[in-house]
Amino acid sequence: MATEATQTSGPDLGQGIAAGEVREGSLLVGHVDGEAVCLVRCGGELFAVSGKCTHYGGPLGEGLVVGETVRCPLHHARFSLRTGEVVAGPALDAIACWNVEQRGDRLLVIGKKPPAPRPMASRQAGPIVILGGGAAGHVAAETLRREGYEGKLSLLSADAAAPVDRPNLSKDYLAGNAPEEWIPLRPREFYAEQRIELVLGVRATQIDVAGKRVLTEAGAAYPYAGLLIATGAEPVRLGIPGAELPHVCHLRTLADSRAIIARLGAARRAVVVGSSFIGLEVAAALRTRGLEVSVVAPEGRPLERVLGPELGSFLRTLHEQHGVRFQLGHTLKSISERQVLLDNGAALDADLVVAGIGVRPALSLAQAAGLRIDRGIAVNEYLETSAPGIFAAGDVARWPDRRSGSNIRVEHWVVAERHGQIAALNLLGRQQPCDFVPFFWSQHYDVAVQYVGHAETWDQIQVDGNLERRDCRLTYLREGKTLALATVGRNLESLRAEAELEG
Ligand SMILES: Cc1cc2nc3c(=O)[nH]c(=O)nc-3n(C[C@H](O)[C@H](O)[C@H](O)COP(=O)(O)OP(=O)(O)OC[C@H]3O[C@@H](n4cnc5c(N)ncnc54)[C@H](O)[C@@H]3O)c2cc1C
Ligand code: FES
Repeated sequence: MATEATQTSGPDLGQGIAAGEVREGSLLVGHVDGEAVCLVRCGGELFAVSGKCTHYGGPLGEGLVVGETVRCPLHHARFSLRTGEVVAGPALDAIACWNVEQRGDRLLVIGKKPPAPRPMASRQAGPIVILGGGAAGHVAAETLRREGYEGKLSLLSADAAAPVDRPNLSKDYLAGNAPEEWIPLRPREFYAEQRIELVLGVRATQIDVAGKRVLTEAGAAYPYAGLLIATGAEPVRLGIPGAELPHVCHLRTLADSRAIIARLGAARRAVVVGSSFIGLEVAAALRTRGLEVSVVAPEGRPLERVLGPELGSFLRTLHEQHGVRFQLGHTLKSISERQVLLDNGAALDADLVVAGIGVRPALSLAQAAGLRIDRGIAVNEYLETSAPGIFAAGDVARWPDRRSGSNIRVEHWVVAERHGQIAALNLLGRQQPCDFVPFFWSQHYDVAVQYVGHAETWDQIQVDGNLERRDCRLTYLREGKTLALATVGRNLESLRAEAELEG
């Protein structure tokens, strides 16, 4: 997934460089003691930070400086130039910072700085309960501790696995290119060290708003002073004859990904149902594993509704070049042990079927608790629900988006993490508005698509560049206003577009 930052390119910054070489706002990449280091002049001040992103090793030297942050070109994590701290996900860990000294007309990078001190203990009364161990729930828990919340903190998850790097489940992990240790967001000891009570494999069954408690199927009650609902989304299940057969899989959890992998030994032909991001990523992973793969979907082009006809056609061709066969304009009628039957009567051989036909937000608890629902849990700009003190974040939340002027719900990893961070700050009474520009990426073989903004509908797509050459920007506009941009092979442009959309 990552392009690792080169460790020793550029000058040895420990030996020093001419001060004039470091220009305001740009990144100069060098190295110190074998580590990649970026030297930045920002507002006249000099900063030296690691050149390697802590998420998947992205080359920060190829990123963008915005204000006092450096942003990663791969998945848009942001780090403070002053402290190295994560300003916004998907990274979880800070980057290292060095001291910079000017001697005459030379700049020298000397000595790593100690980590930034932890903030003072927060006076917020506990306990805080987080419902959901996904991206939003996990980042909220980390943020609460990082911001000095010392009270009781419980993270409840219906999943038996501790929070995982979900995007990897349909990419390198499923393709067999990522070791298992990449998958947990944190090792189990982390939760104990941070005094985060991790309650796994337990489903919450009720939010008692008046009594300020969460009740679980195991009969336990978790009282709260502050509650975050981050129950995410659940895959839509196939509702056709044969859908319950053991070789029919869905993909949301680590257990789901493992179940698909467990079937690979015996499988030769797979049918992927749906040409969504997950469907196509699964197709790519299974091709990498050597299976014959057909994708069946009702659309005329994959992902056309989200990305438009140009990118849809490009992705279709890309997958066909890797041997995927498409049966577009069709749905499945039934599944048997060795075949699937399409609506036109055609039969495809399949000893593995993976459905990626969308997700539904997990709303039932919030609905039963009487919270306002609007095709998601309705939240205000601070991610607070209609019940004061109860926040919602991630795939489950619909929030007011300043740019489009509408309420939006988005199913992206980075959005969920940033929601988790903002909700945590607001649980501590910080009144932090949710005002970032949504971002997602999707990986198909060696091609990454990056997307910033949010365009549910558009009336024009401007294409700049050439998709076949993998060097392209697509701008989605409505009434002349830019809503979103997708790029292939233009990581820096994606970062710049994000900064421009932030306005
Ligand atoms: C295979 C896969 C690949 C993806 N790839 C990408 C990608 O490349 N880029 C991208 O931007 N996005 C990607 N996504 C989407 C991204 O992972 C989601 O947007 C993100 O995980 C949402 O985070 P969340 O915290 O809102 O919910 P989730 O991650 O779904 O977590 C929800 C949690 O709530 C728990 N829960 C639900 N109900 C209850 C209950 N009643 N009691 C207790 N716990 C409960 C669940 O067990 C789970 O732990 C991918 C998703 C999948 C499934
Ligand atoms: S590698 Fe930097 S954000 Fe993913």
